[in-house]
Amino acid sequence: MYAVEIDGLNVYIAGRRILKNVTLRVPRNTIFAIMGPSGSGKSTLLRVINRLIDLVPNARVQGRVRVLGVDVYSVNPYKLRRRIGMVFQTPNPFPHISIYDNVALAAQASGTARSKSEIRRVVEWALRKAMLWNEVKDRLRDPPTKLSIGQRQRLCLARALAQKPEILLLDEPTANLDPVNTRRIEETLTKLKNEITIILVTHSPKQAERIADYTAILYMGRIVEQGPTREILNNTRNRITQELLKQH
Ligand SMILES: Nc1ncnc2c1ncn2[C@@H]1O[C@H](COP(=O)(O)OP(=O)(O)O)[C@@H](O)[C@H]1O
Ligand SMILES: [Mg+2]
Repeated sequence: MYAVEIDGLNVYIAGRRILKNVTLRVPRNTIFAIMGPSGSGKSTLLRVINRLIDLVPNARVQGRVRVLGVDVYSVNPYKLRRRIGMVFQTPNPFPHISIYDNVALAAQASGTARSKSEIRRVVEWALRKAMLWNEVKDRLRDPPTKLSIGQRQRLCLARALAQKPEILLLDEPTANLDPVNTRRIEETLTKLKNEITIILVTHSPKQAERIADYTAILYMGRIVEQGPTREILNNTRNRITQELLKQH
């Protein structure tokens, strides 16, 4: 069974075809990178997987999208999203609640922890997984606005992990981070893939080379190639991929 299996996917927004006949296979326990120029449909593709696309006005989805063997349109979207964590490009922790509560709320809402002590355990576990625990353990009651951008992004990762997802969607999670924080996140992801499947939108071929098992190239709504990262990034014969790599 694949983590994500997409066949003949077309997405229309206000009548415009944004994704075109997309077919994709994401094996479980891998890191799968999606690359492509701005506007090629990367974020839209992620939104189809967790059905955030339902919230886009005038969007229409056609084709088959299966997550862990189940058609995403055969299940309740809230239940689906509990199994799929997401981290966005701009760190967006809730600013008016504490570092602790940002993670605790996710644990509670998803039902991974109920009692106070369970929640406390999941919060520490998630913050450790996100490699943030040591930096915040003495100020868990501070608001996240006191954290650096890189720390906030790791907090968002911890928040996503606290719901114990089976799949993690990351939309350019390190685009605004310095190299040190980028490496920390990459290290975390590499360890996490033993437990979950990670789909990572990235602009950085170097990042894909460092951590992604597979890479797909999206261009104007179409997948132009997908396969093992090394084959795609080092030996591509595809003109579009070559152009994309030249820009880095
Ligand atoms: N909510 C929306 N309404 C209208 N057009 C949208 C919407 N979301 C995305 N699009 C269009 O879909 C295309 C792909 O966007 P997106 O998936 O965000 O690309 P990427 O993440 O690769 O930059 C773009 O042309 C964008 O303008
Ligand atoms: Mg995007």
